Amino acid sequence: MKRVLIVNGPNLNLLGFREESIYGGRSLEEINKGLEKTAAGKGIELSFFQSNSEGSIIDRLHQSIGKQDFIILNAGALTHYSYSLRDAVVSIKIPVIEVHLSNIFKREEWRQKSVISEVAAGIICGFGDKGYALALEYISWL
Ligand code: DQA
Repeated sequence: MKRVLIVNGPNLNLLGFREESIYGGRSLEEINKGLEKTAAGKGIELSFFQSNSEGSIIDRLHQSIGKQDFIILNAGALTHYSYSLRDAVVSIKIPVIEVHLSNIFKREEWRQKSVISEVAAGIICGFGDKGYALALEYISWL
């Protein structure tokens, strides 16, 4: 079994309510339920974590050492400026796939920079919540 943790950062608990024209109408709970179905039969054991707090996310990444094989990370706005989170991604030595629902490269200039991308295994963005499933699909091929 491949152990995969899906981490969502600040404001992603409001998916389905927040800026639906950008992020879609599905709640995080609905998305996660769908991902359970995607993972079933692919030899993937899923865990989920969401927090609005940078420190809690970093703590959870640290706790993943030896417990997770891959992390799928949508760090929300922390993506654009959190060097602590970037350092945590490097420090844990677990491949991290960066996911964004929106295409950050065609949005505001400040969103077009990710401090995570250069230390991520790869990045998927612009495909809405299907991005998480695409990341799982990739992991299933390894
Ligand atoms: C996001 C993009 C970020 O710029 C934003 O702050 C988010 C969501 C996305 O999934 O498209 O909270 O990570």
